[in-house]
Amino acid sequence: MKRTIVTMPGDGIGKVVLDETLRVLTAAGFEADYVEGDIGWEFWRSEGNPLPQRTIDLVAKHKIALFGAITSKPKDEAFEELAPELKDKGLIYSSPIVGLRQHFNLDICARPCKTYLGNPLNFIRRGANGEIEEPFVDVVVFRQNTEGLYGGVEWSNPPQQVYEAFLTHPKFKQNFGSVPKDEISISTRIFSKNATERILRAAFSHAREFGYKSVTLCEKPNVIRETSGMMYKMALKMQKEEFSEIQLWNTNIDAQMMWLTKNPEDYGVIVAGNMFGDIISDGFAGLIGGLGFACSAQMSADGVAVFEPTHGSAPKYADYQISIVNPIAMIESACMMLDYIQEKDMAAKIRKAVAEVIAEGKVRTYDMMKMSGRPDVIEKGAASTNQMADAIIAKL
Ligand code: NAI
Ligand code: MG
Repeated sequence: MKRTIVTMPGDGIGKVVLDETLRVLTAAGFEADYVEGDIGWEFWRSEGNPLPQRTIDLVAKHKIALFGAITSKPKDEAFEELAPELKDKGLIYSSPIVGLRQHFNLDICARPCKTYLGNPLNFIRRGANGEIEEPFVDVVVFRQNTEGLYGGVEWSNPPQQVYEAFLTHPKFKQNFGSVPKDEISISTRIFSKNATERILRAAFSHAREFGYKSVTLCEKPNVIRETSGMMYKMALKMQKEEFSEIQLWNTNIDAQMMWLTKNPEDYGVIVAGNMFGDIISDGFAGLIGGLGFACSAQMSADGVAVFEPTHGSAPKYADYQISIVNPIAMIESACMMLDYIQEKDMAAKIRKAVAEVIAEGKVRTYDMMKMSGRPDVIEKGAASTNQMADAIIAKL
């Protein structure tokens, strides 16, 4: 069956890495119809909406989307750049990524971080006898994507009713009771049972399917007793009743960041709430090469899934005559899409080609050569975005 995939290039380098990725997909033999969804800054400026309804409709219809990256700017700048005829309409910019997440309830975010042998950006450390060790990292972070600290329930100078409700909590009264209301900002951290159960189950199921021996819950239940505490209790129960062959480890986010470089090879699947999942996945991404390699999937309960690199639109590189950015994060995101739609052999084939190019070490983008990004990196021997994709295609 030929599929239809929604492509949302977005802004800046999003367009470039997505184009190159589509070439790689085609070269791997993946047959699909691609329909392009408008998203990003251009549509904010011209229409006052960075996520037009027609794009939402396309994603609703076809369910599977590849997304490049978008540009976001602070509120005032966003207003300045609006088309003149839209300026008096009271429009307020909001991130289209968050918009997609909320609209389709893309509550499960998966971010794999796996070492490619031969990547000069791999994390190294010294062993007991002073020798250089290069631990093999193979971690998949499952991050709850819609709730918690990024759930958006927050106030500065909260409404009276809210303030009074908070005053009923003894800790609030004790610690903040004497602070004037207009000097208080509150950001809430709300976890629901249903969403918590879904992210835990996604993590355990992934561990089972792909043979990871452990799932690590990375929260802080000893201090954040209600939300982290609920998640921990649910994880214990789920492990015991449904996934007893998989070990459940429990780490605190702060300690986990410390252990990140000490023993990253010990971890398999990691599961966390929204913010801690965001933090820990960036941490692990740093060990395997950073933004040029960090891919992700965002998935809903009813089969809508958006695959995207973790990086943004990198505006300073967007207008380069020859694009220099690394397309691997986007290509890896497309591999996650292939896995999701059960084209696992094709995903494996592309990952093997990427691994071969990296191991060979002849074709490297500027980030892999530890250069700072400038137009002259190509003269200095770095591969362009296009050349990197070509090298991968040649291996295919
Ligand atoms: P960014 O990820 O766009 O770029 C940060 C730096 O990382 C770049 O200057 C570059 O040195 C490096 N980099 C990023 N992608 C790379 C690649 N594929 N290959 C090699 N190097 C790469 O983050 P920044 O500069 O903080 O934000 C730029 C814009 O992107 C902002 O408007 C921001 O709001 C937006 N953004 C969008 C995201 C998304 O679409 N998911 C995520 C993060 C930021
Ligand atoms: Mg992040």
